[in-house]
Amino acid sequence: MKIGFLGTGHITSSVIEGIFKSKLKIKRIYISPRNRLISKKLSRKFKKVSISKNNQQLIDESNWVFLAVTPKVGHKILKDLNFREKQKIVSFISTINLEKLKKYTKNKNITRVIPMPFIGIKKGPIIICPMDKKVKKFFDKLGKSIQIKNEKISKNFWTTSSFMAPFYHMMLNTSDWLVRRGVNRKAAEDYTREFFLALSQDSIFKNKLSLKQLTSESQTPGGINAQALRELKKKKFYKIQQKVLNSVFKRF
Ligand SMILES: NC(=O)c1ccc[n+]([C@@H]2O[C@H](COP(=O)([O-])OP(=O)(O)OC[C@H]3O[C@@H](n4cnc5c(N)ncnc54)[C@H](OP(=O)(O)O)[C@@H]3O)[C@@H](O)[C@H]2O)c1
Repeated sequence: MKIGFLGTGHITSSVIEGIFKSKLKIKRIYISPRNRLISKKLSRKFKKVSISKNNQQLIDESNWVFLAVTPKVGHKILKDLNFREKQKIVSFISTINLEKLKKYTKNKNITRVIPMPFIGIKKGPIIICPMDKKVKKFFDKLGKSIQIKNEKISKNFWTTSSFMAPFYHMMLNTSDWLVRRGVNRKAAEDYTREFFLALSQDSIFKNKLSLKQLTSESQTPGGINAQALRELKKKKFYKIQQKVLNSVFKRF
């Protein structure tokens, strides 16, 4: 299969890195010349990756086309490109819905997918909407794919994907605190990365327990975890988190 990526930015890089770590059988990957630096880097690193002359050439030569431009660019360029009627289109674009995508591309064979940067190490959830067997088979090789029937429901997952930066900031804040207490930066960051990794991995190993049970299990009555959770709740930390999710949701 030949595939093409319209827009060679962060998410395209991650998906391509993941593809070459996976068992997917890809004959050729066409990428658009923009971003120049990233496309050059990818074509140098992987023999099967070539930079197309322009967006239309990439579409013409690919069986599947992945849309990986920002919504603003998508609104501007998609309607002037010619997609074949039955060509598979997979859109990563966050805020252009199926109806608009169909209108712009004059194609009905469109699936929206939410990959995240860790797809580059074949990790993490990948939301697929609407359901599509072939698209699922493809992304099963790149992480944990989850099919969603309804586009309205998929908006909730787009919303929660906004918690990457807040999660890393929580890690940064933890290591900054350690540094202020006199721990050297490298040790503080190593500790924090290992700590959050172990927590996440453990939650997968213990997937028979609900997250509520895990929260409860990780506290000793009167202990320091119970104290931290109680104080954060009292200061409305988690209510604020819900409010922020509601506010991000409004963008979809
Ligand atoms: N990053 C994520 O974690 C993530 C996750 C899920 C979905 N998405 C979605 O994926 C899309 C891309 O995100 P991103 O983070 O990869 O953004 P990005 O790094 O800014 O990549 C966008 C790419 O589009 C290129 N571009 C701009 N105008 C173009 C044109 N006319 N023709 C072809 N390419 C053009 C840009 O090139 P220049 O640099 O030359 O302008 C850039 O390389 C967005 O819609 C985003 O919502 C991202």
